[in-house]
Amino acid sequence: GTRAIATLPGDGIGPEIMDVAVKVLEIVGEAEGVDLRFEEHAIGGDAIDKTGCPLPDETLAACKESDAVLLAAIGGYKWDNLSSKDRPEGGLLQLRAGLDCFANLRPATLEDELLEGSPLKPDIIKGVDIMIVRELVGGIYFGQPRGFMDEEGDRAGYNTMVYKKSEVERIARVAFEIAKQRKGRIVSVDKANVLEVSQLWRQTVADAFEEDGCSSDGLELANMYVDNCAMQLCSNPSQFDVILTGNIFGDILSDQASVITGSLGMLPSASVSSPGKPGIYEPVHGSAPDIAGQDIANPLGMVLSAAMMCRYGLNEPEMADIIEDAVKDVLAKGYRTGDLMGSSPPGAELIQVGCTQMGE
Ligand code: NAI
Ligand code: MG
Repeated sequence: GTRAIATLPGDGIGPEIMDVAVKVLEIVGEAEGVDLRFEEHAIGGDAIDKTGCPLPDETLAACKESDAVLLAAIGGYKWDNLSSKDRPEGGLLQLRAGLDCFANLRPATLEDELLEGSPLKPDIIKGVDIMIVRELVGGIYFGQPRGFMDEEGDRAGYNTMVYKKSEVERIARVAFEIAKQRKGRIVSVDKANVLEVSQLWRQTVADAFEEDGCSSDGLELANMYVDNCAMQLCSNPSQFDVILTGNIFGDILSDQASVITGSLGMLPSASVSSPGKPGIYEPVHGSAPDIAGQDIANPLGMVLSAAMMCRYGLNEPEMADIIEDAVKDVLAKGYRTGDLMGSSPPGAELIQVGCTQMGE
């Protein structure tokens, strides 16, 4: 049958990299006999300019009706002075919440071709293959109460970090399922030495692990404080297989893990809901306003997000394999966008290309 893909190019380099991803999908879809229908909708700053709000009702409704949502990036200098609830980034939070995409999957995998380009020592990072499973619709980014207040003549801003047992259980179970398809090692990351919310998190993960009989499935569960995890990601990243964590810790750790791969521009992500509901597939990086409109952005994070969409959202793993192999292939042949120019596979000459050319 046909698959309806809602495409949300957004702001900055978003439209440039979306263009590449759609072309790749069209070609691979045709080769594999999968009929993809693309429908473009506004989000972020682009939607604010067109409609006054970062996630128009029409966009959310179309995304709910789709089989999968492909999102590029949102945000930019132009909208930086709006209050936090009116900003482009608000559109993304609303979309994730609106589709109930509670699980964010962020791989940090190092392609051998990019080993030399990483700022970290090759012997430390060789073969790193981490999947960060981040809770996406709870925690401090959504907790109530939040706001500003005046207290004894001083001004304060405040947010609330709260997790319910049920929220922790469902994200933990996503991590367990993913671990079964990988090396089976889960590290749950929290700050249980300081935060009550983390104590509940830790206990709930342990209970769910026990209840599901994960040990007999060959899974291992360990706990780690978030500050230690940040250090270990730099000093010994190959110890990790699946990292399970909450919203804000996962946000920070996944950006940190991205350094291992040499460029933020390489990293895809998936934000998924319960089976059968549409997920959101988007690169980890932002709208890169500093390089927008120059046709120099790296489209590979976007293209690899399209591959994740094929694998997890459309159940077309062959399409995902073809796309991922093509990415390895162009890297092995020495093609690099500007952000990757530090890396060089043995014996290959590097060829610097722009965004469109990389797609071609
Ligand atoms: P950013 O990821 O947009 O850029 C950080 C740095 O990495 C910049 O120097 C940029 O040029 C470079 N970079 C990012 N993606 C690249 C690519 N594909 N190819 C080559 N270079 C790339 O993060 P920043 O600067 O903190 O945020 C810029 C805007 O993006 C802000 O408005 C922010 O709120 C928004 N943002 C949106 C996200 C999303 O849509 N999911 C995620 C992160 C930030
Ligand atoms: Mg982030």
